[in-house]
Amino acid sequence: MTNAPDGRGPFDHAAWDERSMREPPSVLDAARYSDPVQHRAEITEIFHRSWLPVVPLADLAEPRQYVVWEQLGQSVVIARGDDGRLSAWHNVCQHRGARLVRESGRCHSGTFRCPWHGFAYDITGCVTNVPLRDSFDPAELDGLRTPVVAVRELWGFAWICLTAPAQTLEEYLGPLLPDLGWYGLDAFETRYRAQWRMQVNWKTVVDAFNETWHVPFTHKDTLSGIVLWRDAHLRDLSPHSMMTIPLKRREGAPPPTDPDPRASMIGHFLAFPNTIFSCFPTHLQMWSVWPLGPRESVMRAWGIVGPTPSGMADDEWAARNERDWEHFVEVARQDAEVLDDAGRVYDSLGFRRNMFNVAEGRLTAFHRTIDEIISKSLPAAGR
Ligand code: FES
Ligand SMILES: [Fe+2]
Repeated sequence: MTNAPDGRGPFDHAAWDERSMREPPSVLDAARYSDPVQHRAEITEIFHRSWLPVVPLADLAEPRQYVVWEQLGQSVVIARGDDGRLSAWHNVCQHRGARLVRESGRCHSGTFRCPWHGFAYDITGCVTNVPLRDSFDPAELDGLRTPVVAVRELWGFAWICLTAPAQTLEEYLGPLLPDLGWYGLDAFETRYRAQWRMQVNWKTVVDAFNETWHVPFTHKDTLSGIVLWRDAHLRDLSPHSMMTIPLKRREGAPPPTDPDPRASMIGHFLAFPNTIFSCFPTHLQMWSVWPLGPRESVMRAWGIVGPTPSGMADDEWAARNERDWEHFVEVARQDAEVLDDAGRVYDSLGFRRNMFNVAEGRLTAFHRTIDEIISKSLPAAGR
């Protein structure tokens, strides 16, 4: 163990090396990307049961501020109460199923009123008033509320789990918690956002971001002069994963003194199933890939910055952040272009399987995790 200079605690070389990924080459049937039965199982068995970071806390800073979050065919209200606590609930009126709240905003009155027959709900989703109350069965109204969604605050985001969580958020994150927690993201600020829609399965998008050797081809003019893509070190944080990617050093620049690779390299994490954190010690880009159907996805990205580093002026730091974000947007656009194109040949008679090499070990592990989860719900004959 070596002491880190920044007070983040000693770096444990042995524990770091223990999780090095050594996946052999593998293959994956092409149908895994476009089969609607597989897709349905991924939604219900994975997305509905995983902890997902969905909304920057900057959008929920004040009491009575709320966000209507809609992905995966779900509509969820995430709201901050007068006591400062977040609540999340399915955005469906319990009378006859109207969509209760239409847009994100600030609920000044503290009451949401259903646009159909006027049931009233408080900021936590509990029914507070029922028109024609006497005409209902009282037993049906007793304690009536919208179904609760589990919600937690971590690393500047509201995380939700759409069905009763089998694990706490900390249990779900497992080894990702200390590895990504190292960056101190609670002190960072979400400053930029963008999104891309693509005609391609969500897993093809996640695959694309979990290996580096497309860099000299897809990103020959944006990234390949900056990162040492051949030297990526892959780590297994099941069901999550990470890699460190060294940066090219300017000529004459001194070698890094901190033994922790995160202090001098890009720390690139997959929070299973669909979120990437691409971290520098001072800032990061984060993006989530959401399925819109078996063959369509949207990628939502955020630029997140830490406090101004010591020795740098605030405006210099702001200008650097601006340049970094513009660079990321161009890199992501290059990926989106290739990915959108890949979705167009899913039905080709020539697309039979994917090959993953050793450098694509994170993809092998990702698909194995998906297989293990959904094989419990899909009949063996269908696979
Ligand atoms: S559906 Fe909401 S009050 Fe009737
Ligand atoms: Fe890329």
